[in-house]
Amino acid sequence: MRGSNPNIGMRIGVCLAALACGLAPIPAAAQDAGKPTAAQTLYAPDAKMDRFISDLIAKMTLDEKIGQLTLFTSDWDVTGPTMREGYKRDIAAGKVGAIFNAYTAKYTRDLQKVAVEQTRLKIPLLFGYDVIHGHRTIFPISLGEAATWDLEAIEKAARVSAVEASAEGLHWTFAPMVDIARDPRWGRVSEGAGEDVYLGSLIGAARVRGFQGKDLKATDTLLATVKHFAAYGQAQAGRDYHTTDMSDRELRDTYLPPFKAALDAGAASFMTSFNELNGIPATGNTYLLTDILRKEWDFKGFVVTDYTSINEMVPHGFARDEAHAGELAVNAGVDMDMQGAVFMNHLKASVEAGRVAPARIDEAVRDVLEMKYRLGLFEDPYRYSNEKREKAAIYNPKHLEAARDVARKSMVLLKNDGNVLPLAKTAKSIALIGPLADSKEDMIGSWSAAGDRKEKPVTVLQGLREKLGKNAAINFAKGASYEFNAGDSTDGFADAIAAAQKSDMIVAVMGEKWDMTGEAASRTDLDLPGNQTALLKELKKLGKPIVLVLMSGRPNSIAWEAENADAILHAWYPGTMGGHAVADVLVGDYNPSAKLPITFPRNVGQVPIFYNMKNTGRPYTADKQGQKYLSRYLNTPNSPLYPFGYGLSYTTFGYSPVTLDKASIRPGEALTASVTVTNTGSRAGEEVVQLYVQDLVGSVTRPVRELKRFEKVMLKPGEAKTLSFKLSDKDLAFHRADMSYGAEAGDFKLYVGTSSDATNQAAFTLAE
Ligand code: NOJ
Repeated sequence: MRGSNPNIGMRIGVCLAALACGLAPIPAAAQDAGKPTAAQTLYAPDAKMDRFISDLIAKMTLDEKIGQLTLFTSDWDVTGPTMREGYKRDIAAGKVGAIFNAYTAKYTRDLQKVAVEQTRLKIPLLFGYDVIHGHRTIFPISLGEAATWDLEAIEKAARVSAVEASAEGLHWTFAPMVDIARDPRWGRVSEGAGEDVYLGSLIGAARVRGFQGKDLKATDTLLATVKHFAAYGQAQAGRDYHTTDMSDRELRDTYLPPFKAALDAGAASFMTSFNELNGIPATGNTYLLTDILRKEWDFKGFVVTDYTSINEMVPHGFARDEAHAGELAVNAGVDMDMQGAVFMNHLKASVEAGRVAPARIDEAVRDVLEMKYRLGLFEDPYRYSNEKREKAAIYNPKHLEAARDVARKSMVLLKNDGNVLPLAKTAKSIALIGPLADSKEDMIGSWSAAGDRKEKPVTVLQGLREKLGKNAAINFAKGASYEFNAGDSTDGFADAIAAAQKSDMIVAVMGEKWDMTGEAASRTDLDLPGNQTALLKELKKLGKPIVLVLMSGRPNSIAWEAENADAILHAWYPGTMGGHAVADVLVGDYNPSAKLPITFPRNVGQVPIFYNMKNTGRPYTADKQGQKYLSRYLNTPNSPLYPFGYGLSYTTFGYSPVTLDKASIRPGEALTASVTVTNTGSRAGEEVVQLYVQDLVGSVTRPVRELKRFEKVMLKPGEAKTLSFKLSDKDLAFHRADMSYGAEAGDFKLYVGTSSDATNQAAFTLAE
């Protein structure tokens, strides 16, 4: 146990005073004042474990220790995962401590056998994998899950994923990804929870709870990895792997809190990021990996690199060669080398030459062995690889039902003119058009782990056919292509127009191909790719109602579509059961309740655009329209196409004026903001009631508003509920001019409403 073992002295001194350390805050709602965090409970001192691991480390050679710090991937062929012969020999020689991309109960058992029967010390392997939004049963992509604003649903998705993955022998997932992402050109916006620090922190913690469950010894635990540490989401120009340069305040106020929230929720490991931060690659960054992660945050788990990110410190221009890169990484605080083989090839020489302290190696080995111990692998290395459990878990009907439910909850209704949705169940003829309308491979999006792309996913065509039955004619035509090179081609247009002509209305399922978001999938424009908008323009000429079902992993610029489609439903990539879920929403069996977790720009030139920007000294306000020397564009409004927090329902909600029980609070006191929300429409529906706060004057300038609370509430037609939100000075804290952390006395505005545009407001003061 770090800090409790007298032999491990390298990283002593945990910050006791948050103020002095400038600790990144976690949202007050995420912590229960006074109670120990999940991490403190999960990783409580364990003398028996410490003795066991100390004894084991005492027996290990330096080579065997370095083996525990080495992670390799397995390969794939048509029949599934395979292992290069060389790697198998490395496992047998004790040179590998963990494997990723290997699963199925049988395959992991076979590999585990090599480790426990052929190595000298019989230390079991740890099996990792990217279980991101499902394992076999795939849920909506992470950004879609975030749009639910439903922490229980998100936790459940992670739990189901863990149940399936752990039954296939996996112990460890490379999730959650908690990078705050505000640039939709960056393809990895799809993998996180969007742009907001508060929402992102709560979601990160929910995912950790879901993956890990309550007890690491349970066989359906999947150790979580919080990634990518840190600030990867601010890649310059939205280009993946690119440079990040930001102030320490921005880092601590915006980018770090979701990591801290996930850590407190008990996350067992951290993954370094590919980017450099202020000139230092994250994988060699002592400030991040030791000063913040270990000393300030007291992290007890282990740190793994991202894929070959140690080696990449050479092209970064930070290390002379791989040996030097390995030294920089391990000395900065990396415990495990993913795929780079740098530790394997060079670390021994570095230790022997005195450039890496033996105690630092022991510390890293301890971090890794502790997790193997906590999972119970020393008691039974095969406990996860269970064919019977695997059979029962994979695509279990309950899992599929859960995936369908989360998918429905993730879909954001962006427009619904004339209540064109929901479709009448008696609809006689629908033209279903677009490259995504009947594409199985796209339904599950990127990072879909072991999800099947060929057979299992339910497409929108299938879903609608099943829902509407034989009486409705669904006239399907692909019509257009989402490939970038489809350009000016009109191939397929005639079929689509013919299908539309014989139908009462058009449902166009369009967007991006699944691999246009995710890793290494940056774009310089955000339009619908290919000739999709061109086809929509032709269809528009027919004068029939058009419903656009958008599928993509990022905000797109859809200004023409927003103007010309009658309804727009953002379905993200909705997962294995996606087609059923889309059908549920289109016909109104489910009333949409999702809200955007990320701002939709009008065009790429507004990027980065997010709701909690600064005001500037020359704000372009409503009373100054048309004036020149203001912070504005000449050709596009400043406002987004759709703001953060926005999303419609098939019903409507009314808000009473927000009231406060106190106009002024002192530090340590709380105030309560109350609002009555009424379902003013004719259908039952859920509303996400959002509360934002603006700090009017600060020792450093403050955002125009920040999300501080939200609650999702179900209301029957005509029903009203009064919601109360408690806030204290803790919720108003930030890193002040001197980098101390806390609130500042002064005037605040509070807004409550249906999106980040809410105007329903009240004012209060924080006294000295
Ligand atoms: C690279 C990605 O950046 C990371 O997110 C992922 O977990 C690893 N590869 C392993 O697949």
